[in-house]
Amino acid sequence: MKRVVIEGSQWGDEGKGKITDYFSGKADVVVRFQGGNNAGHTIVFDGKKFAVRLLPSGIFHKGVVCVLASGMVISPSGFFEEVDALKKAGIDVSRIKISDRASVLLDYHKLLDGANERALSGNKIGTTGRGIGPCYTDKASRIGLRMCDLLDAKTLRKCLERTLQFKNRELKSYGLEPVDFDTMYKECLKYGKKLKPYITDTSVFLQNEIKKGSKILFEGAQGAMLCLTHGTYPYVTCSSPMSVSVPLSCGIPPRSIDYVLGIAKAYTTRVGEGPFPTELFGAFADELRERGHEYGTVTKRPRRIGWLDINILNHCARISGVDGWALTLLDVLTGVDKINICVGYNYKGKTVTTIPATLEEYQAYKPIYITMDGWKKDISNVKSFEELPKNAQKYLKKIEKLTNVPIALFSVGPDREQTVILHDPFED
Ligand code: IMP
Repeated sequence: MKRVVIEGSQWGDEGKGKITDYFSGKADVVVRFQGGNNAGHTIVFDGKKFAVRLLPSGIFHKGVVCVLASGMVISPSGFFEEVDALKKAGIDVSRIKISDRASVLLDYHKLLDGANERALSGNKIGTTGRGIGPCYTDKASRIGLRMCDLLDAKTLRKCLERTLQFKNRELKSYGLEPVDFDTMYKECLKYGKKLKPYITDTSVFLQNEIKKGSKILFEGAQGAMLCLTHGTYPYVTCSSPMSVSVPLSCGIPPRSIDYVLGIAKAYTTRVGEGPFPTELFGAFADELRERGHEYGTVTKRPRRIGWLDINILNHCARISGVDGWALTLLDVLTGVDKINICVGYNYKGKTVTTIPATLEEYQAYKPIYITMDGWKKDISNVKSFEELPKNAQKYLKKIEKLTNVPIALFSVGPDREQTVILHDPFED
């Protein structure tokens, strides 16, 4: 397999960072295809901690080309914050390529994100506050700035005038300070100069890499249930983290995708608002939260905790064509006496196994569980499936059976070595 997509299969935070880091070492090119700095994970490199929010994790692997594709919303200040920290650590950043068609996220997007949330009051989305929604809104409204617009003074003037005409009206309607054109124009020109060496037509670059037979890893941020189209709308992000969005967001044909690796936690978490049928509360949820260090990387918010929901995995697998699962944080379940798996929902006396379009309906769904015996033995050092306690083996087998998708690998701790590969998509 040459082109592999890594996709979160729940509500994000499935531990994609570690898995992406693992496979990045085998890839020639790693691509972020959607989202912006609402994503994030911490990578320890040479004993130092780095927060990566925009850049693909491939940057920590020598020689790997890192692409920020056209489906992304990129904050230039956020980008240089990451790049400067890497440069200081002696990491070669000349391998980064930014799509000329990627959207530019500026400070007023963040202000509008906050204002929108305040206006929604009781119905707020619980966004990361990074301006992601307002930036994608500008793109869809055809008034947004793209990377290519920053490269030419005349074009920039025209595009910025167009966008600020709308944005300042919006800011004023919220009682916020309008953006001063000249200040923003100068700031954007400066960004353009600094960004120029990185900006290119990444669709052409990727097509050439595909022709050459390079190994390409597409790194999704967030998770399938946060997909703007197929997630729990409106409690979603404004892009699609699903494999089906890769071709469009990168400018490559759909047939170029060889394998989709769905990343799923052995249980479920969610940050922000929205329905979550298997959510747990009380002391047990708190215990799992502590054991799994379930706090947001970007916002530090405590994550909501729940049992594994097979309906969600099947929703994701059906739409994205998941070829194999990477089951993460299995070790967090060690010591849990009885483990529940949600295999359907009860809705008005009927059993349902699909995710409804409306929130109102989903909120009324009651989970139907099967219960499995847990295991007590520490699994954090196991190196093979066979070394797992029998009940942990049964848990994995059950997931495979209920989803009809094989487990490609599982993870039993935060370190790279605590990953057991059953089949490697790049080697198959
Ligand atoms: P936004 O992407 O900041 O607009 O936030 C929309 C929703 O997606 C909120 O519920 C966020 O908590 C959630 N979200 C965004 N990025 C992530 C992520 O990387 N992990 C988990 N949830 C996320």
